[in-house]
Amino acid sequence: MARPAGYTLTQIRLHWIIVLLVAAQYLLHDTISEAWDVVRDGGEAAFHPLIAQHVLLGALVGLLTVWRLILRLVHGVQPPPDAEHKALKSVAHATHWAFYVLLILLPVSGAMAWFGGFGPGASVHNVLKIALLALTVLHILAALYHQFVLRTNLMARMKRPMT
Ligand code: HEM
Ligand code: HEM
Repeated sequence: MARPAGYTLTQIRLHWIIVLLVAAQYLLHDTISEAWDVVRDGGEAAFHPLIAQHVLLGALVGLLTVWRLILRLVHGVQPPPDAEHKALKSVAHATHWAFYVLLILLPVSGAMAWFGGFGPGASVHNVLKIALLALTVLHILAALYHQFVLRTNLMARMKRPMT
């Protein structure tokens, strides 16, 4: 696998666009959660723009993640900073892959529930949403640890594209 000198501008833009879209999913989910309760009880959910928002932006997250995954597979990624302990390098590697898996399975499970009427899809969606939240907290803590304890200036990787 190739080891480039950094992320491309597209990879960096995709990272931050997905962060914003995911934040919107967590902040604005109330309407689809209430609508799902109605559907689960055999009723029909009335149209609401926030339902369309959750479905469309959620699907967009899935598509952008597949794009990102292809870029990663084609370009490879730069090696982790030398200062990072070997065990932490493995944790970071696993975390990054888990992000890709979760960001694809979340829209798939949501669609299975919403369009396929498959109840367990919603349960899976709910478990995955907690896993994504936990990984994001870990990821942010790791970024802070790099920035302020190891002083590897890791944040620059997701700010400045390779030249
Ligand atoms: C990465 C994309 C997505 C994220 C991060 C996400 C996140 C969330 C969150 C945080 C909730 C609230 C769960 C709760 O506590 O009640 C939720 C509920 C829900 N989402 Fe998504 N979602 C995504 C994509 C989708 C898509 C594409 C669909 C449908 C096509 C969908 C359908 C649903 C449904 C039906 C619920 C209600 C489930 C329930 O309340 O048990 N989601 N989602
Ligand atoms: C929903 C929230 C987030 C998700 C899903 C996410 C996902 C990811 C993924 C998958 C990678 C690995 C990219 C790759 O090599 O293929 C990554 C790298 C990175 N993320 Fe995030 N991220 C999120 C939030 C954040 C936040 C809030 C920060 C800043 C505090 C951040 C800072 C970074 C940095 C600095 C890297 C580069 C790490 C490296 O090259 O070793 N991320 N992120």
